[in-house]
Amino acid sequence: MPLICVCSPKGGVGKTTLVANLAYCLARGGNKVLAIDCDVQNALRLHFGVPLTDGRGYVAKATESADWSQSVMSAGGNLFVLPYGDVTPQQQTDFEARMASDSHFISRGLGTLLNYPGLIVLADFPPGPGAALSAVSRMADMHLVTFLADTSSLTLLPRVENGTLFGDTDVSGSDVRYVLNQANNRRRISREVADVMARRLGDRLIASIHYDESVVEANASQQAIFDFSPASAAAFDIELLSKKVTSLLGITVGDGAVHHSPGATGF
Ligand SMILES: Nc1ncnc2c1ncn2[C@@H]1O[C@H](COP(=O)(O)OP(=O)(O)OP(=O)(O)O)[C@@H](O)[C@H]1O
Ligand SMILES: [Mg+2]
Repeated sequence: MPLICVCSPKGGVGKTTLVANLAYCLARGGNKVLAIDCDVQNALRLHFGVPLTDGRGYVAKATESADWSQSVMSAGGNLFVLPYGDVTPQQQTDFEARMASDSHFISRGLGTLLNYPGLIVLADFPPGPGAALSAVSRMADMHLVTFLADTSSLTLLPRVENGTLFGDTDVSGSDVRYVLNQANNRRRISREVADVMARRLGDRLIASIHYDESVVEANASQQAIFDFSPASAAAFDIELLSKKVTSLLGITVGDGAVHHSPGATGF
């Protein structure tokens, strides 16, 4: 703990990119960080140097194994990833059905990890509501709801505010904050939407991240933005976001720093 859920009613807003880069930034600051992929796209691992051909993950074995920590992979230093893994449609259906029917399924599977002292856990979700977001949200300390500075994001904002995004789960125990990604000051609509969002959300909006081509290029080369282009606007914005997150959650930078070598599996 703490557990931070990165989610959105909208797809393609940068959730996975944010989880990976925030994890990297927090780990670089000396914290031990685990990024968990709750999306069947299984793309998060690609940000952590796991090869495309490596389909290992926790979901395929989740219904048989009570503890999913054995599927954690080290990404070097303080950074770890728990990939969703390659699954058959049946395995995905079974996993989602179990999450929906057994309220302790997720907390048992992730229990060892969530109780690891000083570990910061970031979870990445597919867009919209779903069994995984509802289940993991019950244990969350913070939600980072990600939007773009566009009109469709504005129309989807009520789904977060009225709780539709979280299904039956009451998230009043979690600090729900918003991040505006791909803000482009050169586009009038982007500026106007950003203004409306800022007025409507007040201090619940904790970051605005510039549209920055170096993010796309960093992702394509499987590097964190901080390695690929440390002086970029996006690197600056994401670093600021990580400072806000640690400050809001009362995380002491450098808590729980333990060093592991890259490539090892297990936690
Ligand atoms: N600040 C940014 N500037 C420019 N491009 C960005 C930025 N953030 C993310 N992107 C790009 O936006 C695209 C979508 O990013 P990403 O896959 O992280 O979104 P997502 O919300 O996880 O998508 P999905 O809903 O499919 O899971 C990617 O091509 C990524 O490189
Ligand atoms: Mg994603």
